[in-house]
Amino acid sequence: MTTNKAHFPLKEQFQLPKDTIYLDGNSLGPLQKLVNKDLSDVINTEWGEHLITAWNIDAWMEQPLRVGNLIGKIIGAPEGSVMMGDTLSIKVYQALSAALQMRPTRKIILSDSGNFPTDLYIAQGLIAHLNNGYELKIVEPEEIESAISKNVAAVMITQVDYRTGRLHDMKSITQKAHEMGSVMIWDLAHSAGAVELDLEAINCEFAVGCTYKFLNGGPGSPAFIYVRPDLTEQIAPALSGWMGHEAPFAFDQSYRPALSIERMRVGTPPVVQLSILESALQIWHNIDMKELRTASIALSELFIEQVEKRCPQLILASPKNPEHRGSQVSFKFKNGYAVVQALIANGLIGDFRAPNIIRFGITPLYISEADIHKAVDIIVNIMENNLWEDPKFNKANRVT
Ligand SMILES: Cc1ncc(COP(=O)(O)O)c(C=O)c1O
Repeated sequence: MTTNKAHFPLKEQFQLPKDTIYLDGNSLGPLQKLVNKDLSDVINTEWGEHLITAWNIDAWMEQPLRVGNLIGKIIGAPEGSVMMGDTLSIKVYQALSAALQMRPTRKIILSDSGNFPTDLYIAQGLIAHLNNGYELKIVEPEEIESAISKNVAAVMITQVDYRTGRLHDMKSITQKAHEMGSVMIWDLAHSAGAVELDLEAINCEFAVGCTYKFLNGGPGSPAFIYVRPDLTEQIAPALSGWMGHEAPFAFDQSYRPALSIERMRVGTPPVVQLSILESALQIWHNIDMKELRTASIALSELFIEQVEKRCPQLILASPKNPEHRGSQVSFKFKNGYAVVQALIANGLIGDFRAPNIIRFGITPLYISEADIHKAVDIIVNIMENNLWEDPKFNKANRVT
């Protein structure tokens, strides 16, 4: 039965600027109109009138778990297994430090060259801090499965490559990790809200992700961490903050972790950001991820077909097979940065990743087939007329 399921696109629910085609929801999702209204209540009523009592009467204290349960539905995780808070970099740290505790005799953290740099940097920082012979081994994405051995403590990879959109096979990699006795950590930054996920079936130990991309939680919205329920009480949190204590308001002098996913909390939650996210997540109640994925593939295939036909200068950097691609399409071009600046100036927002990748996020919630055709027309105009050569498009900004 799909009677109350959403039909795409749901563009009218988003507050998108006129005359702009937004193909960058894989980087920062847009604002929804409902969020604007709900945010006003949080600021003016909850904070403005209820003041500190809002922690109880507006259930701010329960919010990190409440929102985690909403995310859980999108990623196939059971109630009580997902906690919100902090940034994704911090959630990577929490997951990795817990994974190393679980395999004390193993010294290798395995990752791949398609991983996002912060994940690798966090691993490097943790290794230096522990100073106990750990090693970060980075292999090519295609080699990850064969590189998992009985020496590997944790496999830590991102499912969808931020540059190319290449999609890892979660099931077979997790299975191999488990055959070798390694702990599996998935970074779902480019997966949550983009592809179908079933963490319970995948059976990985940990998963982390951000909420400002396909989940539209706004700039800086808090990250999530999933811990497989049977492990929650076994891990001693490396970031043992008071909010993860069993009884924060007992103000004990010794840390005692909460007997639930609450132990993954650290400090005071960002209530305003979490409220924006909670409101932004309401749209997912009626969304069938399978239908969303089908729509994403159809739009991506159309986009690739049209760009390849009309702009041969742009070389597809994403996998051709949609089953091996997340919800983004990337092309290679030597002057990719300037091209992206020219596209933005002409009403199409995408982004650039060094050294030569032009990225486009395909988000069926607010992108239609007509938008794809318009986007391709803009790209053709920029490329055929070499508009990107204008010096003003070659001036580097701090964020690309
Ligand atoms: C895979 C992945 N991990 C981590 C991050 C960044 O994490 P943070 O939210 O801490 O900036 C990103 C940002 O795009 C990402 O793509």
